[in-house]
Amino acid sequence: MSLLKYQNLLRHSLLLIPTTRTISSSFVSSSSRVTLKSPLITEAFSSSSEMVKAIRVHELGGPQVLKWEDVEIGEPKEGEVRVKNKAIGVNFIDVYFRQGVYKAPSSPFTPGMEAVGIVTAVGAGRTGIQVGDLVGYAGQPMGSYAEEQILPANKVIPIPSSIEPAVAASVLLKGMTAQFLLRRCFKVEPGHTILVHAAAGGVGSLLCQWANALGATVIGTVSNKEKAAQAKEDGCHHVIIYKEEDFVARVNEITSGAGVEVVYDSVGKDTFEGSLASLKLRGYMVSFGQSSGSPDPVPLSSLAAKALFLTRPSLFQYVITRDELLEAAGELFANVASGVLKIRVNHTYPLSEAAKAHEDLENRKTSGSVVLIP
Ligand SMILES: NC(=O)c1ccc[n+]([C@@H]2O[C@H](COP(=O)([O-])OP(=O)(O)OC[C@H]3O[C@@H](n4cnc5c(N)ncnc54)[C@H](OP(=O)(O)O)[C@@H]3O)[C@@H](O)[C@H]2O)c1
Repeated sequence: MSLLKYQNLLRHSLLLIPTTRTISSSFVSSSSRVTLKSPLITEAFSSSSEMVKAIRVHELGGPQVLKWEDVEIGEPKEGEVRVKNKAIGVNFIDVYFRQGVYKAPSSPFTPGMEAVGIVTAVGAGRTGIQVGDLVGYAGQPMGSYAEEQILPANKVIPIPSSIEPAVAASVLLKGMTAQFLLRRCFKVEPGHTILVHAAAGGVGSLLCQWANALGATVIGTVSNKEKAAQAKEDGCHHVIIYKEEDFVARVNEITSGAGVEVVYDSVGKDTFEGSLASLKLRGYMVSFGQSSGSPDPVPLSSLAAKALFLTRPSLFQYVITRDELLEAAGELFANVASGVLKIRVNHTYPLSEAAKAHEDLENRKTSGSVVLIP
């Protein structure tokens, strides 16, 4: 999709929103530690100081290794833009990099792979981006846990001005993930029955709402009653509290022994085997995360009995080209605008308190999205 097509799509989908309405989070939880500001961008676009505050990781480890420091970011080169971040999305992948499960490109490093902010400077060359634009990005380069950052212009996505930065930052990476999982990796259709683990999590909440709108019967797993209530609100037809119930037996019961067409499994180690057991003949095992640890190696023979398909996809392999990126974001924002997706910014923290955000995410204390505010 070209930038022009993307802008037209947004214009068209935003016609669905009453002009006075701003898309703020539909649900803002009491655990927010900061007040969300209006998206109206009125401040001056000064970027005089080269030093900005950022979270830095010098050694791998627990949340305590996230340090609040000054860093120098410089000015944008050709094809780059400098962005003053308004809101930063926290994703479980940030935990993997901090722990060393995934290897960061440098050391020390600034974590974070998602943010929304205002462009304060544009490097040489044609970028299609202007100073003052509200933009977001999700993916490489790592380094969004910072007041400002330099980004390649071809990685940034124009954000509709009717969407609060905190809402956009909470949905860009997670929502594009839901888009590629449901629409491209395995195409969910009316009549399918699907199983979503961690259904009240950031990605899980969006997967359930979107799959329900696509006409699927959605079975979600969660760890407690509060999360179960949220998953129900998000369109889960059946919710299983997998800390208390055997989810394989429950899926078997719900599907009258048939199993589900697809499992979206982001939990990994603790659920992988049960997920395979929950699939129907020729079902799709989509293993897209490992919040509980990496699953054990899988012998091919474990797929043979039901002729199962297995994939371990990543968003970043589905948004390689600019067209793919804008298509995923366009479809996501159209669904936000039309109300198919209600965004749960359930937890906001000051950027300087990123360690607390990580601690809560890892300890399963969060639901919906977690956002840092510089
Ligand atoms: N492949 C991709 O492209 C891609 C993109 C985005 C995200 N992901 C993956 O999707 C998953 C969800 O990401 P997210 O940022 O939205 O996080 P999240 O789902 O909001 O948080 C993780 C959730 O996983 C569940 N969980 C189960 N066992 C856990 C354990 N031992 N430790 C911690 N959590 C556990 C918890 O929900 P309960 O309390 O209900 O069990 C927890 O709230 C992550 O695994 C992430 O890596 C993959």
